Amino acid sequence: MTRPLTFAIPKGRILDEALPLLARAGIEPEAEFHDKRSRALRFATNRPDVSIIRVRAFDVATFVAHGAAQIGIVGSDVVEEFDYSELYAPVDLDIGHCRLSVAEPAGLAGEDEAAMSHVRVATKYPHLTRRYYEAMGLQAECVKLNGAMELAPSLGLSRRIVDLVSSGATLKANGLVETHVIMQVSARLIVNRAAFKMRSADLAPMVEAFRKAVGVKDAA
Ligand code: PRP
Repeated sequence: MTRPLTFAIPKGRILDEALPLLARAGIEPEAEFHDKRSRALRFATNRPDVSIIRVRAFDVATFVAHGAAQIGIVGSDVVEEFDYSELYAPVDLDIGHCRLSVAEPAGLAGEDEAAMSHVRVATKYPHLTRRYYEAMGLQAECVKLNGAMELAPSLGLSRRIVDLVSSGATLKANGLVETHVIMQVSARLIVNRAAFKMRSADLAPMVEAFRKAVGVKDAA
């Protein structure tokens, strides 16, 4: 018998939107998955051939790129930040909509970047941040943080941040304003390319099930 498929899904905001989509694609995690007190990280599903791991969004991409998980759900921000050649992202799941933006303290926003040669930015996205500023002819010095980027300007770590913005409430609560949108983000189904070839009998129907699940969202 072939090994079960491992499906990686992210903790955090996408999860609530991802679960109904998974269910429509025929995959439902065991009851323990919904128990907030559980410390388990790997879960059985209604399908004996599929198990689920719940990890941080950036780690979803790493598990799938290395083939430790064969399939997963993650934001297009993460797919673009890593740019792993081993990842195939066949379906835009139309959930987890937000944007990756530059933000600055409200009182300081608007300085002419054309007059500068270098910017310092606190971010979880150094690759996308450098790429964005390079296209403007600016060198970005990135201070890598894993969360709470919004604290960086008030504490003097960097004037600018690059982070995800959804409602804008976090920026507002921290006295920041969005000055540029780098990219629009939505969640993607990602598949390990080698696994997609070797186990196409399992993975191709699953990809198809997600395509259909996205299409029938409003009718469910
Ligand atoms: C994200 C992001 C912002 C916030 C933006 O963090 O990093 O901090 O959401 O959302 P808003 O515009 O609706 O306020 P999240 O809460 O997902 O946690 P994280 O810091 O662990 O990424």
